[in-house]
Amino acid sequence: MKNKIKELVILGFSPGSVCNITEAAYELFGCTSFKIIKNIDVQEKDVPYLHQSLTCTIYDLDSIQENPVNINLQHVHFGVNHSHIRPIIFNEFNKKLGIDRENYVSLIHPTSHISMSSDYKEGFFAEPNSVVSSFSELGFGVNIKRGSSVGHHCKLGDYVTLNPGAILSGFVNVGEGTEIGTGVSVLHEISIGKNCMIGAGSVVTRDIPDGVVAYGNPCKVIRKNERWEKTKSLLKQI
Ligand SMILES: CC(C)(COP(=O)(O)OP(=O)(O)OC[C@H]1O[C@@H](n2cnc3c(N)ncnc32)[C@H](O)[C@@H]1OP(=O)(O)O)[C@@H](O)C(=O)NCCC(=O)NCCS
Repeated sequence: MKNKIKELVILGFSPGSVCNITEAAYELFGCTSFKIIKNIDVQEKDVPYLHQSLTCTIYDLDSIQENPVNINLQHVHFGVNHSHIRPIIFNEFNKKLGIDRENYVSLIHPTSHISMSSDYKEGFFAEPNSVVSSFSELGFGVNIKRGSSVGHHCKLGDYVTLNPGAILSGFVNVGEGTEIGTGVSVLHEISIGKNCMIGAGSVVTRDIPDGVVAYGNPCKVIRKNERWEKTKSLLKQI
């Protein structure tokens, strides 16, 4: 796999994501040089995000559109974490720079294990020590974070995120755009709807409907997931 990708372009910028992505791309492909294209000028925490042996150049999407620069957009990956932000990134860069799903590279960290009978789409990121068991199907832009685990025969829709240490038992369905909090346990054959946020440490013992924030042990619906309401209106504006 080494040297397959020399330069990775990262779309959107969050320091907590960029550090994981650049280091995984280095370990997987020997990638040392990165370009980051920011789509919004968010005030980020001033924390280190790049190992000293790696380099990156940061661009701004609006200025690239006004004054095109020569960037090879063949290999890209998301530079942000959350399930409700990645669809905005995909849609905006698709519309403005023509970047399509097949341009999104999957990063499978060498310490993760993906079963040979499971399947994943483009833009998948399996962080260190994560596991996907047999016959599971993962959609586009799924991110499973450090030490998380997907059981056998699970189905994860596009943009699903499993935060660190989350565990899905067998035959679990998670709808598109749903984020599962740190250390959540989801029991056998449970279905969680789309665009949900399952709070950290929850134990999900019953099905969860679409578009809600739910947490606790046992996990209960608390309210509508307002983050996704915002995402939907932003997607209309792109
Ligand atoms: C579920 C979540 C989104 C709720 O956020 P919120 O609505 O802003 O919640 P608040 O912080 O206002 O807390 C409201 C109440 O719910 C409780 N609460 C919040 N999250 C909870 C959780 N996961 N489990 C149990 N109770 C929780 C709080 O203790 C608080 O209780 P109180 O009113 O008695 O003080 C958030 O707490 C959460 O768990 N996010 C997941 C984060 C995560 O996994 N991050 C990983 C990044 S790598």
